Amino acid sequence: MRPLTALCLLLTAVGRGAASDETLDLAPATSDIHLSKNFHGWVNPEDLHPMPQCIEQQNQTLWLDTLTKCTRKRCIWNIGAICFRHQWLTELSCLSSEFSPAVVREYLPYCGRSVLAKAQLYHWISHATGRMWLGEVGDSTGLDYLTSASLPQGYTHVNTASRAPWCLKGSSSFRSMESFGHVVGSCSFVSSTQVIGNAARPWEYRESQHSMVALASEVVGYDLTGSLIWPSSYFDIECLCHAFSTDWLEDPCLESEDLELTKEHLWLNATCESASLPDWWTDRLKVLDSRFISVREWKWPACLEDMPDKITELPNQCATDVCAVDSDGYCQVQRAVDRSCFCRNINFNSCSGSCHVFETRIDYVNWLHDLCGAVEDWHGLPNDWRSLAAPTVSDMIPWEWSLLPTNEAGQCASNTWKLGSIALVNLTTLLALLFGKRSGSIHRLSLDFLSSSPVESWPLLGIANAALQLLAYYLTAVGIQQVPGYEDIPTMQLALLWCTLPRLGWLSILAAVLQKPRVMSLSLALSCFLSETIMQCFASYYILVTFTYAQQHNLFFSSLDDTERGGSARLMYFGTYLWLLAIAWPFIQIVRAAYIMGTLDGSGESDSLDARRGHTTKRIAQELARQREESLAWLGQRIGHAWEDDKTPERAPLVAGKTQAKLYIAMLANMLCLWVAQCVFWAGFIGLSGDL
Ligand SMILES: *[C@@H]1O[C@H](CO)[C@@H](O)[C@H](O)[C@H]1NC(C)=O
Ligand SMILES: *[C@@H]1O[C@H](CO)[C@@H](O)[C@H](O)[C@H]1NC(C)=O
Repeated sequence: MRPLTALCLLLTAVGRGAASDETLDLAPATSDIHLSKNFHGWVNPEDLHPMPQCIEQQNQTLWLDTLTKCTRKRCIWNIGAICFRHQWLTELSCLSSEFSPAVVREYLPYCGRSVLAKAQLYHWISHATGRMWLGEVGDSTGLDYLTSASLPQGYTHVNTASRAPWCLKGSSSFRSMESFGHVVGSCSFVSSTQVIGNAARPWEYRESQHSMVALASEVVGYDLTGSLIWPSSYFDIECLCHAFSTDWLEDPCLESEDLELTKEHLWLNATCESASLPDWWTDRLKVLDSRFISVREWKWPACLEDMPDKITELPNQCATDVCAVDSDGYCQVQRAVDRSCFCRNINFNSCSGSCHVFETRIDYVNWLHDLCGAVEDWHGLPNDWRSLAAPTVSDMIPWEWSLLPTNEAGQCASNTWKLGSIALVNLTTLLALLFGKRSGSIHRLSLDFLSSSPVESWPLLGIANAALQLLAYYLTAVGIQQVPGYEDIPTMQLALLWCTLPRLGWLSILAAVLQKPRVMSLSLALSCFLSETIMQCFASYYILVTFTYAQQHNLFFSSLDDTERGGSARLMYFGTYLWLLAIAWPFIQIVRAAYIMGTLDGSGESDSLDARRGHTTKRIAQELARQREESLAWLGQRIGHAWEDDKTPERAPLVAGKTQAKLYIAMLANMLCLWVAQCVFWAGFIGLSGDL
């Protein structure tokens, strides 16, 4: 009896005066204070506990009828046979017999769903009837002392129920035909027990209805377990998941679209765990998986501007609502693009322009493959798409035109042309040299023809030589253009490209160096150097075009190993790099010398600026000379020796001995470097464009 009293105190603490607690005590003599309200086993109906939640939620007719049976109009104040005051009172002993197990059993299936509701009912019954069980002996075990473990699957906030999809909320339990909302209601409770309605007067006898009526009811509280939780409304998960059943063949969400079904299944999985779900439930989930791409994560390739509206509109057309499963396992509806819908409507040729050009093409191809590659039956990329996802041969050639015949007939000529022209250019130089060296007359002849003094005429000779070479290139290009199939070749461009061909001009200088020094060899070397310099100026165009192209497209450093002819391309770019180094080398030398001078010169404060400048220049020259001396000492010495052996009289006035030798060697070294760079460039270029 003691725990019961304690619970009664707990139950009635909310909204009711503590005074009324003892009135229902089945030992009426225990409290004198309330004796006045207990009229010899009869009590005021309002002193009964409020109606339990689970009774209130059902058909109360039987409950009220039972109470009514025990309620009579009684005289509460009489003197002798004369009654001064009548009142409707309820007989406690009658309640004990009328609220029989049979009556309680009527309510039990519903009240028994949630252990909290069952405990509440049990407290009401034991209070009103003194019986320690409900429908049958022993069915109240454990209801006296609830703990949080009494709810094995726990509880969750009632908001969870409102997140259920509308088809589930609108459906009825398959077994009990009870609505979803009603089942949730039967399982719900609040943080602490509350009385709803007229707490001070939970019952009254209404004469007009000839029946007891409930003016208040008591909502189950989690405090029955002796624990506190955050004030709010909750429901018992186990209660709901057992009470609400679905016939999966007639699932109300089956008729609606997959999204609702997905929401339902996810809701049930997250709330009740998958045991409550049919085996196939995961098959029809419309969740954010590989089939869908969240609109937020949608990405376009770099060539978006060149995509037709038909394609850019596609994501909108293929957008659909799907479930993104949140951390609790529930559905968060998101817009997503249906991958197969998108891929059905796109292929490599859907976009042109920059989508088919080099980097943007690579980006586009990779994007397309990432997006649709795994989609079944999608063949939107050409079979050789992997080569499109890497730089192609024409991507690696920096200029648009190529030495390709427009018809099939001339195809095999292309390679021969290139190799042939290189050989030709070098062969002529070689022949001229050999011939000139043997006869010794060709230069003299030309010099005599151009000028009376050979020393002064070398610039003219150099320019003429360069002009002749350019003309020869141009005429050859024009000649090629005449060949059927090559009509579209741009002659100027071709001639310019040929300027980058390696020429053996340096051989002439070498010859001049090795020859006995005289007027002729110096002027020959100088004119050769000049004409070669002019040719290099023209060559610089295509070299720089290639260099900047490789730079812009990051071809120096990107991996071309897997690319077809990537090695040749790299060789070509490396050639331009070498060429630039060869050009820059003399300047680097000067700057380096100036730097060394500068650091040595730091203390000369007293000199005037001009004097210092002159001084510095002189010292730079000295430093350069010193460096050259060191680096070329060996060759210089050999040539010097050769010249010292020479006893010809021409030597004395014109030759400044070793100084001139050093000049030759500098020119020679520079031109040799350029020649090597151009050889590398052309080796790469021919390899790259080889059998195009
Ligand atoms: C409640 O139950 C009684 C019988 O116990 C029945 O006559 C009445 O129709 C029921 N009321 C409702 C609303 O179902
Ligand atoms: C279903 O619920 C389980 C356990 O809560 C969870 O691990 C699983 O990921 C859920 N399945 C889906 C598809 O959300």
